[in-house]
Amino acid sequence: MIVNVLADAIESLDAEEIKSMIEVPPKADMGDYAFPCYKLAKIYKKSPNLIAQEIMQDISVSDTFESIKTMGAYINFYVKKENLVKTLFDQFKSTANYGSSDEGQGKTIVLDYSSPNVAKPFHIGHFRTTIIGNALYKIYSYLGYQCVGVNHIGDWGTQFGKLIVAYKKWGNKELIEKNGIDELSKIYVKFHEEAEKEETLNDEARAWFTKMEQGDEDALTLWQWFIDISIKEFEKLYDLLNIKFDSYAGESFYNNKTQSVVKELQEKRLIKISEGAKIVELEEEQMPPCLITKRDGSTLYSTRDIAAALYRKKTYHFDKCLYITALDQKLHFAQWFKVIEKMDYKWHKDLVHIPYGLVSMESGKLSTRKGQVILLSDLLNEAIEKTKKIIEEKNPNIENKDDVSRMVGIGAIIFNDLYNNIIKDVVFSWKKVLNFDGETGPYVQYTHVRTVSVLKKASYESFEDTKAYDLLTDDASYNLVKTLLKFPSIIKTAAYKYEPSFLPRYIVDLAQDFNKFYNDNPILVDDTSLKKARLSLVYITKKVLATALQLIGIDAPKQM
Ligand code: ARG
Repeated sequence: MIVNVLADAIESLDAEEIKSMIEVPPKADMGDYAFPCYKLAKIYKKSPNLIAQEIMQDISVSDTFESIKTMGAYINFYVKKENLVKTLFDQFKSTANYGSSDEGQGKTIVLDYSSPNVAKPFHIGHFRTTIIGNALYKIYSYLGYQCVGVNHIGDWGTQFGKLIVAYKKWGNKELIEKNGIDELSKIYVKFHEEAEKEETLNDEARAWFTKMEQGDEDALTLWQWFIDISIKEFEKLYDLLNIKFDSYAGESFYNNKTQSVVKELQEKRLIKISEGAKIVELEEEQMPPCLITKRDGSTLYSTRDIAAALYRKKTYHFDKCLYITALDQKLHFAQWFKVIEKMDYKWHKDLVHIPYGLVSMESGKLSTRKGQVILLSDLLNEAIEKTKKIIEEKNPNIENKDDVSRMVGIGAIIFNDLYNNIIKDVVFSWKKVLNFDGETGPYVQYTHVRTVSVLKKASYESFEDTKAYDLLTDDASYNLVKTLLKFPSIIKTAAYKYEPSFLPRYIVDLAQDFNKFYNDNPILVDDTSLKKARLSLVYITKKVLATALQLIGIDAPKQM
């Protein structure tokens, strides 16, 4: 509507351009939409304020708008409230999934996330990549993109030589079968302690890794066993979190694909030999060189990443490939992205590293060195237990207590984790995470429960647009309508900025607006048309809350 009005008044911009320039003002008294005239100032060589006034004169005020005013360089549109309510209802009805889109039709996004390391504990740093990746996967899918979730498991490298030595010297099959990764990482830590005293252990480890690279059966059987044990444990966590991957092609998958990378780099004259190792110089880029093979010919993490990128491009024809890891791998990605560019692949610009900050506990930093890590499984189980206690106090007769405790406990942790910009460090505090009021998972889930129970009380099952839009123009309803209208653009912003935090923040705003609406406006009133109008707004809110939570990997319980 606004686009049409403006397009008629402005000759030098087409509708698409105008659309992309329209903003939603930060304050309600600045109108519902605003059009800035700065860009036109360059074209017309006049002050933007003057242009705003001139355009204003050419605009014909239709009955869509309450009023249109200029404010400095902006033209502000005040939509008639009932028209904006109608817009929401129309948009909501027009699709089965409000906020979804088909803009990604025909485009593929590969997401590399979670990617824990075999035989090493799944700590809460890996939790971040897992839920950020999962959220981005769901968000992009909702926008119509074909997504491929890859778990690039760390299942190759010299550390496996060490693990084999450790197992042969101090390993206990039964204990490992019983305690899994816990036991494997214990003997791995022991290896490091012993190797400090006895240098030769490292040579033994190297020799075992070489055997692995040469396909030695004994070595590979042990290696495969370590993998199976680890994946079994990882999958328990993924089940708990309800997370799935499309591919488990980890580092070892690229073993037979690294030699051709080395060859190609050589043919493209990018390889230099430095003390026997093959490297790609990145001096001009002011980075240390990217290591391709070690002196003994074995490949590295970066070699496998290059091979993986080439493979993924060939296999999935991705439009973007996203890598979600902790910030400390920033240099690693910058280096090998550069190598891809030097290899002259234009799609190097479609590789995106998405780094995130550290997690620390309120009680002190997490130590990842001395085996003393906070395990994700412990954390999740503790959250579920603690939630159960709270729920038992608040609502002792609830059905499916275990299920609800799981949804709320895990939801609380995910919500807390995704609430801030992902690059920021997260400080974990139980008191904050499980608070039922505040900017938390339980608070927004509880708001969802409230919408469900209102609808249930009213036996309101399917959406009905009574078209009585003027009944929803009081301040609280109108505010809620405006927030609900923002949902589609919030999803897009979260996607384009690779920043899931836009969703939890939006969900909190929405929950607050809904609770205000709920307090100000009795819903189950005698006036049937008023009741129906309010119920339809509750219905949309319920849908949007549930969808938004689902997009960040959190369940929306019906009771709690
Ligand atoms: N396994 C690595 C780690 O735990 C993360 C792998 C990230 N993905 C990649 N393609 N390099 O640090």
